[in-house]
This record gives sequence, structure tokens and C-alpha cells, in this order.
Amino acid sequence: MWLLLLAFLLVTCKAKEPVYPESCEDLGLPDDLAYTQSSLALRELADAREMGVGAAVSALPLDCDPAYGDALGHEFNMLTTENALKFGPVHPEPERYDFDAADAIIGFAEAHAMQVRGHALVWHQMNPEWIDQADFTREEWGETLRAHITTVVGYYKGRVQVWDVVNEAMGDGAHDLRKTVWLEGVGPDYIDKAFAWAHAANPDALLFYNDYGAEGLNAKSDKVYELVKGMLDRGVPVHGVGLQMHLSIEDAPDSEDVRANMQRLGDLGLQVHITEMDVRLPNDPDPELDEKQAEVYRQMMAVCVDAPSCTAFVTWGFTDRHSWIPYFFPGEGEALLFDAAYQPKLTYVALQDALSPARIPRPEDYGAECDCEP
Ligand code: XIL
Repeated sequence: MWLLLLAFLLVTCKAKEPVYPESCEDLGLPDDLAYTQSSLALRELADAREMGVGAAVSALPLDCDPAYGDALGHEFNMLTTENALKFGPVHPEPERYDFDAADAIIGFAEAHAMQVRGHALVWHQMNPEWIDQADFTREEWGETLRAHITTVVGYYKGRVQVWDVVNEAMGDGAHDLRKTVWLEGVGPDYIDKAFAWAHAANPDALLFYNDYGAEGLNAKSDKVYELVKGMLDRGVPVHGVGLQMHLSIEDAPDSEDVRANMQRLGDLGLQVHITEMDVRLPNDPDPELDEKQAEVYRQMMAVCVDAPSCTAFVTWGFTDRHSWIPYFFPGEGEALLFDAAYQPKLTYVALQDALSPARIPRPEDYGAECDCEP
């Protein structure tokens, strides 16, 4: 009996898991989705400060949801390729590259005068099967990664200005380098090599090391600091560090720690980008949490605006209509700047606020009722 109940619960829970969308139909878009242009777009404010404000972009909504492109082009001066340039999607077979999705995203960026962050040349996830199951010699591993980086960076030379060359290489826990196919295959110097290969393929691109959980001051951010400092000492062409900023309200870093981290990286001569910010909320609506969430966004943008080293602020998506959060953190969502109907949220206003010292815009600018006066 109990077993039957358990089986039933497992099946129903499983059935409720959202299906990761792969077609326009999967997105289940209502007909009336529309984005209304704000009178003070984030990109205008960021342009005035000569900084980047961006969002990670997926090819599927760009293709299927016109409101997505309307908002993106109006609001942001930078974008990151969310999945299209990860190893698996772009290089699915040893002799085959597939640039279609990335071409669509980067073509959009060019048509809207946006900078492009290419993400991510070397990562332990989303690798194709032929990599995950490869049985190469050390030399073959090196040659495989060199050819991949050279081809992808070379293909987008002049079109991708910034690359996340290595993503999430620092392990959790002991904070040694994460054990990945690249560490084990190419060897302990795979990070240095990846940056050198990327630089050779496009000497004009800014090359970033990108990671999570290393935003403030902690053991992991110390390790990231040591890593990039060591790279600079060895003459490796690294130009910046990406702070991902996938947050929930409870684990948001202290803004003074983030400021200090940006400062020490800046002192090394490196740039810092906030690369993947989102602040997920539990699915129960709670206006108090909405305000706290907006405050986290405001603080992180304010720190970036103030830090000379911080030159771009990028969110992981921009509308709750299309976000990875509900798929990867079941029971949580609403992590971004626009709701699922493309209405700007308090989080959006918080970013306007932090970007614009001269003017403190309010959600009522958009006809919304709000008692969020500080
Ligand atoms: C995520 C994407 O958003 C998902 O669509 C995909 O299925 C998995 O990867 N850190 C990163 C990003 O560096 O590449 C991840 O993106 C989110 C966590």
C-alpha cells in the first residue's frame, strides 16, 4: 500500500516537472505577448556610463517570441550566448560544427549595435557525447581543445568581443581545480593553454575566467584571485573575471565584499563583469520578498557602477517568460527583470535607479501601482 502511494507520488511529481523547451510549441506562448518600450531603457543609462548592460539570450525565444527581441534590442547594449556556443551545441560531432543558433543571436546583436559575450569555450557541462566518452591520449586531448577553440573563436573574430574562455573550473569544497575531462585529459595547464589558444585566434577579444560562488570574499574567490594572478604572472592573456551571481535572497553576497573583490581584481589590471545574475524566489507570491529581491539587484548594480574595474552587468535572461530557473530549481522562479508578460518588475526599476543617480524612476512610470518609496 505504502509502496503504491510512494510510486504514485513519484510519478505525479515527475509529471509536474517542466519540459525543457525545444520547439516554439513547447514554449506555449500566448498570442497577446507584447513589450512596451520604457522611456528610460537600461541601455541608455549604461551607455551614458560607458558600461555594458546585457542579458543571456537563447535562440529559441528569439525565433518564436517577437516580444523577446523587441525588449532585448531596446533595453540592452550587450548579450551573452546562453547555450549556443557551449561545446555540445556548437561542435556536436568531431568533424561538424553547428553555428546556426549562435549566428542568429549574434546577427541580432549586430543589427542592434550590441556587444557580444561568447559563452563558454571550456566547461565541464554540456559537452557532446564524443567528448564525454573520448579515450584520447594527452596529446589528442590538447589537439582537440586547441582545434575547437581556434575554430570557434576564429569563426567569430570581429563579431564576439568578449569570451568566457574557461567556466567553473574551480571546485567546490576543497577548492582545488574541479576534476573535469579537460583537467584530466589536457592536463593541469589546460586553463593557461585555453586562454593562449583563444588569444592566438583573436588577439582583440577580451578573455574572461567565469565562475559562481566567488562573487564576494570567501575561500573560493580567494582561489579564483590566486588563479588569475598566477596566470598574469605567467604571461597568460587573461583580461577579466566573470562573477556569475546566480543568487537566492538568503545567499546574496555582502555588497561590501563584492566591492572589495572587484577592487582586488581591478588592482591586478583585470576587468570584472557580473555575468549571469538572477535572484530566484520561491513560487509563493510575497510582496516583501519582491522588495528584498529588487534591493539585491540594486546593490549589485550600484557596486558595479561604482567599481572602476566593473565594466558590464549581465543577467541570465531578462524575462521570467524564458528563464532556466524553473527547470533547474523546481519550486522557484521569478528571478529576472520583467515578468512573464514583459511587464517591468521592481528589479528592473532597481537597476534604473542604480544606473541613474540623477533620477530615481518608480514603477508608476509604467502605470503600475507601487508603494516602494524608500
Ligand atoms: C544553463 C542554461 O541557462 C540552461 O539553459 C542549460 O540547460 C544549462 O546551463 N552557469 C553557467 C551557465 O555558466 O552556462 C548555465 O546556463 C547556468 C549556470
